[in-house]
Amino acid sequence: MSVTHQLRCTTCGARIAGEAVRSDFRCPDCKGLYEVIYPWSQGAGPWNAGSPANLSSNPTSEVRLPNPGGMRHLWQERKTSTMPVDQSGVWRFREMLPFMRDVERVVTLREGNTPLYEMPRCAELAGVDWLLAKHQGMNPTGSFKDTGMTAALSVAVERGFQWVACASTGNTSAAMAAYAARAGLRCIVFIPEGKIAWGKLSQSMDYGALTVQLKTDFDGCLKLLTKLVQQFPIYLLNSVNPYRLEGQKTPAMEIVEQMEWQVPEHLVVPGGNLGNSSALGKGFLEMKHLGLISRVPKISVIQAQGANPLYRWFGDENREMKPVKAETRATAIRIGNPASWRKASRVIEETGGWCEEVTEQEIALAKAEIGAEGVGCEPASAVTLAGLKKLVAAGRVTREQRVVLVLTGHTLKDPQYTIDYHKGELLTAAEIASETEAERASHAALRKPPLVLEADEAVVLKALEERMAKANAAGTQTTPGTSK
Ligand code: F0G
Repeated sequence: MSVTHQLRCTTCGARIAGEAVRSDFRCPDCKGLYEVIYPWSQGAGPWNAGSPANLSSNPTSEVRLPNPGGMRHLWQERKTSTMPVDQSGVWRFREMLPFMRDVERVVTLREGNTPLYEMPRCAELAGVDWLLAKHQGMNPTGSFKDTGMTAALSVAVERGFQWVACASTGNTSAAMAAYAARAGLRCIVFIPEGKIAWGKLSQSMDYGALTVQLKTDFDGCLKLLTKLVQQFPIYLLNSVNPYRLEGQKTPAMEIVEQMEWQVPEHLVVPGGNLGNSSALGKGFLEMKHLGLISRVPKISVIQAQGANPLYRWFGDENREMKPVKAETRATAIRIGNPASWRKASRVIEETGGWCEEVTEQEIALAKAEIGAEGVGCEPASAVTLAGLKKLVAAGRVTREQRVVLVLTGHTLKDPQYTIDYHKGELLTAAEIASETEAERASHAALRKPPLVLEADEAVVLKALEERMAKANAAGTQTTPGTSK
């Protein structure tokens, strides 16, 4: 049987067969994380020469690169197919992730195929001419995690696992629970008690997962689970599992396809455990290597100020990764010790992007602005717009450059945040006090707290007249600062 893929340690470069990986997905020599490589990957070298003993042999020593023109055509053609594997926005690109022995057996909920929205009002607010949002919240369970989960959970099935598990701030667990249910696998989720949004918690219960709320944070959950998987035959589905990232790289293909094979100048991604930015970087870099695109976008990662270990690492002259005690209302990215920081930092450096941090106030404002554009997203996704404003202000992104924000989760994931914001109950007095006049004015214009009225025609009419007059006077249907 020919070997279609191998795992390569991203720290020491050691290569192993996919099946030989340890249950914690760490290199036994240096504890580094693996990446999946194929015969055509950059630096793969002669596929057999020097391969360690645990790699089965591949009779084909000649490695042919997949043909870019042929792949584009095939991917387009599959859009009209009725086969589940073709309807998936991940497996439609399967030439880029050829690690399944039998691709017809993949577990799919028709993930991917997410929209790329134009965001003219947010563009104006950020100071760019053309802004797009790749809305990964439009996936089956409402976040980008589905694209990774279809990939890694399919491997779990192929390798005969009965149990799967993950530590999560909520979205990974929702995705894992759904895909495990589809495949008939049992699953356990570990989540930090009291620090995940209700929408996400309800999903893992709905899909039938065994949900364990630990009295710790995400970092504590992952640490504990990493020990457990070494004692029980449980397949770990966090993004340390390199197959997750293979699925999560496919939005890169979708983006360029949706832009008629043009490449945006910038891609802005939220950063938590830093798997997603790593995956998207891999996707773009592999497409360039294969000749599908001629350059890659600059990939910038935005962290919440209270959960900013990568941002600090870039600013640290000794380049030492120092975990932080994470705190942010954007609970999805409340992570202080990100597993994939090395991979993500390389992507930022290799593509020429940046790492930024944004405050709680900036996140709240950006989320409301994205909502007011009729798109909406969860708080962690809104760091992208908040971060873009900073990149523009610093001259790192210029007005004429095309920017894509990766919106990672659906607005319904965390409705409490949105309700608190609009009722004026989200930010503390100290946070409000530190805002500029302009920010306060923007909040005031965006906030839409519900009116509570007597069910009396005259009362309702009077209240509506007042509101409509006020809105007309302010030139409405717009967010502040727009003219349309
Ligand atoms: N945005 C959302 C909505 C997320 O759920 C996450 C991560 C991120 C951004 C950050 O992505 O970790 O790859 O850098 N959520 C994980 C979870 C940690 O458990 O759902 P990352």
